[in-house]
Formats: sequence, structure tokens, C-alpha cells
Amino acid sequence: MRQGLFTLLRANAESSGRACAVSSLVFQAVTGEAVRGSREAWTDVWLAASNAGGAIDFSETVGAEQVGPLVDVELERAAAGESIVGVLCEPEGRKIAFAVLEKPRSPLQQHWRRLARVMVHPDFQGIGIGAYLVGQMHEEARRLGLQQLRLTVRGGEGLEKFYGALGYRVVGCHPDGVLIGPGQYRDEVTMVVRLIE
Ligand SMILES: CC(C)(COP(=O)(O)OP(=O)(O)OC[C@H]1O[C@@H](n2cnc3c(N)ncnc32)[C@H](O)[C@@H]1OP(=O)(O)O)[C@@H](O)C(=O)NCCC(=O)NCCS
Repeated sequence: MRQGLFTLLRANAESSGRACAVSSLVFQAVTGEAVRGSREAWTDVWLAASNAGGAIDFSETVGAEQVGPLVDVELERAAAGESIVGVLCEPEGRKIAFAVLEKPRSPLQQHWRRLARVMVHPDFQGIGIGAYLVGQMHEEARRLGLQQLRLTVRGGEGLEKFYGALGYRVVGCHPDGVLIGPGQYRDEVTMVVRLIE
């Protein structure tokens, strides 16, 4: 487990008018069995972010009985060493944001990872924490010697803009690849960032 302290610009938090007076958070990159300690917090963040309209596997209001099994899949992957979970914590320990670096299985794709499950608790959205979390995942990927990260986003959510500002470029689109309700389709957009030039 690695840790790194950072200072969020207090002015950013204050100008947002949101309920976050936190001036520093702790980033942890966790893999192996240690990740299991995050189950409850991750479920809470996933539930809250999803039910606030987030594009993380659901389009309708969900409960712990739906989110819990997906968290368990992520915990199993991380426990098996197939992924690394990035966690942002408040100084007093509350976990408020998560993201995952997933390892492709092909031996020909070990120079990149898939960035997935990026989520910030809604109480802390809109003040720069998501961008900071993705930046920390980039640093972790560079420490691992990786060259690229790939992700997919649900079209129509504005997420291409969020990731575009962080260096990602659209490299593909699966038209109507996401079915969010009867007859309601969204594109699945693939984006890639190069970590080294
Ligand atoms: C998407 C998410 C991770 C962004 O985190 P955040 O902390 O709210 O975002 P930040 O405050 O760091 O925003 C950074 C910039 O991206 C922009 N941005 C954030 N979310 C955006 C969105 N959905 N659409 C367009 N722009 C967005 C912000 O306006 C900000 O722009 P600025 O620098 O010009 O002010 C967060 O809103 C979230 O957890 N959403 C629910 C889960 C989800 O949908 N995850 C995406 C899975 S691919």
C-alpha cells in the first residue's frame, strides 16, 4: 500500500459552495487481500454516486443488494492481484472516492491498464476530487511503468469532457452499446491516454 498526501486548493472548495472544507486527502493504491477492508465504504460510495445519477453500471435507483455483488467482483480481482484499487480518504479516514486499474489478460497488452469504476461520493463532487483521483491513478500507472490507460464511458453524460481535460482522446465508439432502459440506448465511448510520449 502506498500513500501520498496532497493539498486541495481550499479556494476551489470554497468557491464551489459545496460541503467540503477538507484541505488534504490521502491517496492509497491497494491490491491483494488488503482491499477487502474497503467493502463497506466502497459500497456506500457506489450506491450514493449511482443513485445521484452516476454512470457506473446502473441507470435506475439501486440498493446494496445490487451494488454489493459488483463490489465483491472488484474485491476478488484486486485480491487476486488482477487490479489495483485507488482510494481517496479524508484525513480522519473516511473513504470518499474510488477507481480501479485493471490488468488485461493478454501478454500482448501488459503495457496498459483499463481505468474503471471512477467514482466520487456525491457530497464531494464538483470540487476537483475526481480529477485529482484520476491524476493519482496516472501516477500509480507510471510507477508501474505503464504506457497507456484505456477507459469506456457512457455517452450523453458529459464524461468525454471530464476525461478529455485529463489527456484522454476518443479512440472508438460502440453505437448504442449501452441499454439504460427499454428502447433507450447510449453509445459506449472508448478513450485512451498516453502516459509517456
Ligand atoms: C465523474 C466524476 C468522477 C467527476 O468527479 P468530480 O470530483 O465531480 O469532478 P471534478 O470536480 O474533479 O471535475 C473536474 C472538471 O471536470 C468537469 N466535469 C466533472 N464531471 C463532469 C461531467 N459529468 N460532465 C462534464 N464535465 C464534468 C468539471 O466541471 C470540472 O471542470 P473544470 O475544471 O472546468 O471546472 C464524479 O462526478 C462521479 O463520481 N460521478 C458518478 C460516477 C460516474 O459517473 N463515474 C464515471 C464512470 S466512467
